[in-house]
This record gives sequence, structure tokens and C-alpha cells, in this order.
Amino acid sequence: MLSQQALKENAARAALDYVLPRIDPDAVLGVGTGSTVDLFIDALAAHKHRFRAAVSSSGRSADRLRGYGIEVLDLNEIESFPWYVDGADEVDRALRLTKGGGGALTREKIVASVAKRFLCIVDESKCVERLGKFPLPVEVIPMATAAVARRLRGLGGVPRERRGFLTDNGCGILDVSNLDIVDPVALETTINNIPGVVACGLFAIAGADLALVATQSGMRELAPGRS
Ligand code: 5RP
Repeated sequence: MLSQQALKENAARAALDYVLPRIDPDAVLGVGTGSTVDLFIDALAAHKHRFRAAVSSSGRSADRLRGYGIEVLDLNEIESFPWYVDGADEVDRALRLTKGGGGALTREKIVASVAKRFLCIVDESKCVERLGKFPLPVEVIPMATAAVARRLRGLGGVPRERRGFLTDNGCGILDVSNLDIVDPVALETTINNIPGVVACGLFAIAGADLALVATQSGMRELAPGRS
């Protein structure tokens, strides 16, 4: 039986095998955040001559990339790039995601939105029939924390402040459990529209284009419309 760590390593390697043949040496690669992505970055290091530079969704990943001598560009310098590779906390069959366990959700959403395609890499424990078991991270402007928490309670959620944590944007995170996510697109829109919310960790309006899922019996590809 493979450990979750071994599955994450398999997902990271599979992402490398998938993406490298699909980019040229001038390409910029979008890199997300989290323990699976850390493994992806580690594997990427030996292939840094096969792409020009990276763009990253967090200081944590940027530091790791630079530690390997990989150039990290500011997103403002780039119009578009072919692939964004990132993990997730939950993935459903339609490739809608919950993200933000590592607190980088807003930058992840921004970087993903500039990429042509989003490749999600997960181990099989992240695959769900319905999003919502993982408490939904919501990034909030600090002065609005209480106001946003009240609105989230009004939606049936139970928000809990992530104590002692500030995002790369200097904001806080509310982790919201107990949400009944019947319609992820509608809920994402509703939460995004609460004044004081920077972004919510639902990636449903724009989910992933492809997921590589590491399972006990090997890698599985998930694409919208395929099961
Ligand atoms: C960070 C994220 C991560 O992609 C998500 O938390 C999964 O992390 P891991 O690969 O460590 O399980 O959204 O904000």
C-alpha cells in the first residue's frame, strides 16, 4: 500500500511527464502551491533548461523555484502562458475544486486565470462526489473578518479564523465548514460578492482542465465529461 506521500510523488512526476513534452524552451510555466507542488518543483529542477522561467502563486513556491536556480517572473510581465500546475484539497468529477489549504488561493486563482490550461495534480484521497467536506478557505480583508463571518453563517457555514496566519496579500483566512455545496458555481459567486472577501477557495466558475490522479493502481486522468 503506497503512502499518501508516495502518491503525491507519483502525481508530481506524472505532471512533469505530461507537461514537459507540451512546452517549448521559451515557455513560462505556471507553478502553484502546496506539498504536492513542492514535489513537482523538486522534480522540475533537473529539467530547468526545458523552459524559460516560472510564474508562481506564492512566496513559498517562488523561494523553492529560485533555490533551484529557476527564474521566477512577475505575473505583470506575462500576457499568457500554456500550463499552470497546482494541487487541490478536493476535486469533483467536473474538475471543480476546493483550494486554499495552504492559504494561497487568491494568487492561485489569479495565476490560473492567465494560463491557457490548468493541470491539477492530486492523490486519490482528494477526489470527491461533492465538494464541501474540506472546510472552504475564504481570504478576507482583516477589517471585514467579523462582517464576512456573519454573512457566511447566514449561508449555513461555520467559519473559523485561521489564527496566526496571514496570506501573501496580508489578509486573513476563514475556513468555513458545514456548507452544503449543491451548486458550486452559484456559491462561489455569492461568496465572492460579499464585501471584504478577496477570493474564496471554490474553483468552480473556472475549474481545472485536466487532473492527474495518483491511485494505488497507477495514474488516472480526469477530464471534464469523462469519468
Ligand atoms: C494551497 C492549495 C493546495 O493546492 C492544496 O492545499 C493542496 O495541498 P497539498 O498538495 O499540500 O495537499 O490550494 O493554497
